[in-house]
Amino acid sequence: MIKRKSILLSLLVPFLLNLVFCVNFITAAQNDISKGVDIDRSNIPKNILFGSFMGGRSHVKPMLDIAEILAERSYNVILLASGNNVLSSEYPAVKQISLGPSTGMKNLGKDGIDEEQDYNAMKSLWEIGVISYKRTYEKYKSVVEDYNIDLIFCDLLINEACVDVANTLKKPVVVLVSALQIVDPKPYKFDPILGCNISLENESIWERFRCNFIQVFRYVYSLSDFTNQLNEMRKQMNVDLGQLTLGGFKASLVLIDTFFGFELPQTLPPYIQEIGPILSEEYPPLTPELSDFIMARTRFIFWALVETPKDYFYPTLKLSDGTQIQASQILNNEHPHIHIAEFVPQFAILNHTNTKLFFNHGGAGRAHESLYTGTPMLVLPLLVIRWVTLKN
Ligand SMILES: *[C@@H]1O[C@H](CO)[C@@H](O)[C@H](O)[C@H]1NC(C)=O
Ligand SMILES: *[C@@H]1O[C@H](CO)[C@@H](O)[C@H](O)[C@H]1NC(C)=O
Ligand SMILES: *[C@@H]1O[C@H](CO)[C@@H](O)[C@H](O)[C@H]1NC(C)=O
Repeated sequence: MIKRKSILLSLLVPFLLNLVFCVNFITAAQNDISKGVDIDRSNIPKNILFGSFMGGRSHVKPMLDIAEILAERSYNVILLASGNNVLSSEYPAVKQISLGPSTGMKNLGKDGIDEEQDYNAMKSLWEIGVISYKRTYEKYKSVVEDYNIDLIFCDLLINEACVDVANTLKKPVVVLVSALQIVDPKPYKFDPILGCNISLENESIWERFRCNFIQVFRYVYSLSDFTNQLNEMRKQMNVDLGQLTLGGFKASLVLIDTFFGFELPQTLPPYIQEIGPILSEEYPPLTPELSDFIMARTRFIFWALVETPKDYFYPTLKLSDGTQIQASQILNNEHPHIHIAEFVPQFAILNHTNTKLFFNHGGAGRAHESLYTGTPMLVLPLLVIRWVTLKN
């Protein structure tokens, strides 16, 4: 599949560049004719920008995998993402510029985990987007102008500013997202966060009506304050609202990072392409220490905490059978079968024959690597809401 991915990308990349070339070729040819000069610009490497507001590994990594291939082909590639130099050591060929302060966890409360989240949880995401819109719009605009960008890739999540800048400055824009449902909804498919099943194939007419009309209306209504605020700011920034609706956007091409066969079947318009799963050419290997840990045990648990501070955990956990567990013992790596680290080479662990189960929150990146390596998943679908810490 890695090979297949690179074939896909190698088919796709010329296609994308064709788009840029065509667009620029037409304008360049017209300008040159009018000036009476004949310059062949097709060999000049293009300047390509990748933009992600959420930043963070799962949003930035698929972009960087595409960016790296373009950089190898001598295009000038820039990543503009929240935080500082996310994954820059793994992708040295890609120049990274910070879009602004890093995102941190919003404290949902330790008990939030027990509550079922519905679409109201999306409000927090929209709120972040609205608060940061003006700042990110200005940053995207200045980078596009300063680096004379020819083509822009935008991660779709809460990244309206990226798409808006591209359209306002008349640059071709490629949108990258892992959820097909967001960009090309079908009446027989649903997103469970709106309170309906994934497939409505066997649901009653009433249930389909409830999902497609009532739930959608409630969702749109619940976000209407944010939409109005966002559109107000767009007007201030002279963004042409045109046909923009909630979640609507104008793009030259939409790339869906998903597994073939993973989505329920549906028709796709020609500007939407399924290209996933985007995986890296190479992954960091197991460290000797981890390798020894795996080989020495028949049962073990690896846990990558990434950003969760250790003091976020209760010091002791009580199980339903009354057993008490000392969290500090686990967190300090004193437990014989549990290894905790800030970062673990996830792919190498998943690809190891001794790894039997992957317990995760169901993010696209995790699911793709798990499906690829054939590791069964136990998914606790948490909506991890990140919160931008605004200093001013
Ligand atoms: C979803 O599907 C399940 C199983 O087929 C069914 O029991 C349930 O009523 C359906 N609807 C919702 C809203 O979960
Ligand atoms: C709907 O019902 C048919 C016939 O029982 C079954 O084959 C199909 O898998 C069901 N679809 C879903 C999404 O449950
Ligand atoms: C994954 O494991 C298989 C079998 O152990 C091995 O052949 C393959 O090279 C590994 N893949 C990567 C990317 O390490």
